[in-house]
Amino acid sequence: MNIFKQAYYYLKYRLRANTLHGTHSPYVYQFLEQILYQNVSSENLTKIELRRADLLKDQRQIEITDLGAGSRQNNNRIKSIQRIAKSALKQPKFAALYYNIIKSTKPAHIIELGTSLGITSSYMAMATSQKIYTLEGCPNTLNIAKETFEILQINNVETVSGNFDDTLPALLEKLNQVDFIYFDGNHTKSATLHYFNLAITKANENSLFIFDDIYWSEEMIEAWEIIKADPRVSITIDLYFIGLVFFKKGQAKENFTILF
Ligand SMILES: C[S@@+](CC[C@H](N)C(=O)[O-])C[C@H]1O[C@@H](n2cnc3c(N)ncnc32)[C@H](O)[C@@H]1O
Repeated sequence: MNIFKQAYYYLKYRLRANTLHGTHSPYVYQFLEQILYQNVSSENLTKIELRRADLLKDQRQIEITDLGAGSRQNNNRIKSIQRIAKSALKQPKFAALYYNIIKSTKPAHIIELGTSLGITSSYMAMATSQKIYTLEGCPNTLNIAKETFEILQINNVETVSGNFDDTLPALLEKLNQVDFIYFDGNHTKSATLHYFNLAITKANENSLFIFDDIYWSEEMIEAWEIIKADPRVSITIDLYFIGLVFFKKGQAKENFTILF
């Protein structure tokens, strides 16, 4: 999507977005007040950011296996760690939000699609003693993520190497439920909807699905519209860079746009 279209969608989001005070749903209000707008700081999170800072300076070159929708920039097969760290990792604000959510809602079965260098997985892992399953298709990238977990002394991440198309169904087969899942890779409409439909078979009314880059392309916008309209979904929250999907029963079906 070109920069003007991106600016247009972002402006539309800003004009539509509500804050705490414009939110009438008690369920969503509570989520915003107690989780979304809570600041976090901890020594462990500082350590993760130090690791990110190191990755942002890391000149090592690795060969990339690209199984996803591709990057908006150029798709060289050899990339520096620095370049991956600049383009692929979720910003601290969002990673801290996942930390907050996991710490407050205590999900038992947690999945991340797209490990990359392991920064967001580390935030998630630091929030819980439960296992985080993180799926990645590029073995060389995954090796750097493993280095991240080792440096940060994180022991509750299980990495799964391979294409999501194979690893997600196999993992879901093994788990009897999915409480928290972060979809952060392969941003095509068909893959996004396919993974959503697979994961939803193991969702319950307390599950939370988070989709990254919902305005990354026209395809992702279409996928997000379909997910919002899905009758199995009760509440969605559009934060522009990510979309949150809830399945809570007894809530009116409603799509919120919230400033974050
Ligand atoms: C945006 S990055 C993930 C960033 C990470 N969640 C973070 O915030 O730190 C997306 C990752 O998904 C992986 N990926 C994309 N499509 C995939 C697929 N079909 N199967 C497996 N991995 C895939 C890419 O190799 C890439 O490392």
